[in-house]
Amino acid sequence: MGRNLARNLARNGFRVAVHNRTTSKAEALVDEFGDEGDLTLARSLEDLVGALERPRRIIVMVKAGEGTDAVLDELAPLLDEGDVVADAGNAHFHDTMRRHEALARKGIRFAGVGVSGGEVGALEGPSIMPGCDGDTYAEIGPFLEVISAHVDDEPCCTLIGPDGSGHFVKMVHNGIEYADMQLIGESVDLLRRLVHLEPADVAEVVRGWNDTELESYLVEITAEVLAHTDAETGRPFVDVVRDAAEQKGTGRWTVQTALDLGVPVTAIAEATMARAVSGDTTRRDAVREALAAPEEDPAVADDPGLDPDDLRAALYAAKVVAYAQGLDMVRAGSAEHGWDVELADLPRIWRDGCIIRARLLADITDALEEHPDAPSLLATPDFAAAVTERLPALRRVVAAGVAAGVPLPVFSSVLAYLDALRAERLPAALVQGLRDYFGAHTYERVDREGTFHTPWAGDRVEVDAG
Ligand SMILES: NC(=O)c1ccc[n+]([C@@H]2O[C@H](COP(=O)([O-])OP(=O)(O)OC[C@H]3O[C@@H](n4cnc5c(N)ncnc54)[C@H](OP(=O)(O)O)[C@@H]3O)[C@@H](O)[C@H]2O)c1
Repeated sequence: MGRNLARNLARNGFRVAVHNRTTSKAEALVDEFGDEGDLTLARSLEDLVGALERPRRIIVMVKAGEGTDAVLDELAPLLDEGDVVADAGNAHFHDTMRRHEALARKGIRFAGVGVSGGEVGALEGPSIMPGCDGDTYAEIGPFLEVISAHVDDEPCCTLIGPDGSGHFVKMVHNGIEYADMQLIGESVDLLRRLVHLEPADVAEVVRGWNDTELESYLVEITAEVLAHTDAETGRPFVDVVRDAAEQKGTGRWTVQTALDLGVPVTAIAEATMARAVSGDTTRRDAVREALAAPEEDPAVADDPGLDPDDLRAALYAAKVVAYAQGLDMVRAGSAEHGWDVELADLPRIWRDGCIIRARLLADITDALEEHPDAPSLLATPDFAAAVTERLPALRRVVAAGVAAGVPLPVFSSVLAYLDALRAERLPAALVQGLRDYFGAHTYERVDREGTFHTPWAGDRVEVDAG
């Protein structure tokens, strides 16, 4: 990632000094791509610091966590007041807040910069989510905006807010990415198991989706991966890959943080759990053996009950919900930390360069700009109409999958989430009653203000607990 970002900067005419712990790698970069622009090798951090004009602007792109701390610990004593360090790795936003504070005490300006787009994005133009003070952004923003992806000459990079806000938004971006990928995976599973399509045929269906409102990078590469044949066996590539999805941690962080904030990001949570289930191979093997697979219902086998058009509609509705939940989380995080994040900026800078780039993001940007105070994207008129229209299809898809025993954790959770938000009454009232029964936790009433308790073990005459 670091070498591609350096090449991107050099290609855009910026003078770049590059350093890597393993010098041979930085050397190879300069040897191989030195003709792309002004790339200078720095064999040590001292050389790097000495090569830069002041205030120095340094991008750190190393393994997040201990790697970043190791580099910052070595770098900080070499810097002068006013220098800027931008951590472009996938740092946890709490680490970024800690580093920001520690470096600020030394007069060093720190930016936590979320970067998305994989290695190709880093080279050709990623989506960039910087979090820092305004004066720090004035030093690095102009560079970042030039090397970012562009849509209609607009950079896919903007100052998100201060402190850890950039890495917080990158974390949520990755959480949405988890949900999006799992939804696509569930859709493909349905087409294979209910419509009995081979991967190459599913690839055709998915390729067709990319000409619709589902157009997105992830849908595009899904068709590519499904159509790919394993050279060694001649089998579809997806059938020779172990079905245990890995994760580097940003999905888990998103869910942990969402729980702390009390924001129900159910689609992201289920997608993260689905990866955990897939990787839990010992338990999968044991339970598969212990719980014999149910006989396939002949009615289901004859009539899969799955209309691919329904699936397309359901996928769109579910994606909207995943994005809505992620945006809810940013709204809550911004309020909690006082970051004042402009929500509409996020879909705008995700329109290109990043992994979740999608046609849908332009519409989300418009909706948030027109309705900045809407408590949910789902409550904005166009998306409310779009989801309402597709709700019956989503229900039919989930019903077909459930009837046939196809696991649909994210589709199902999205449907439950929509049904819960739309319900007049939820069983939470009973939960409150139970909590009051065993723990005197009190409850509120629908017909008057106040907090109440019923002495369940006594006379059961309600008392005012306010
Ligand atoms: N890959 C992606 O698609 C992607 C996308 C967005 C963000 N990111 C983030 O970008 C950063 C870099 O990712 P990556 O994919 O290039 O691979 P990575 O394995 O996360 O990082 C490799 C780089 O980190 C250096 N490094 C590791 N530990 C170090 C330490 N203790 N001290 C100094 N340097 C250390 C390595 O140096 P050596 O070469 O000497 O080992 C190498 O330059 C990560 O924070 C990652 O989360 C990655």
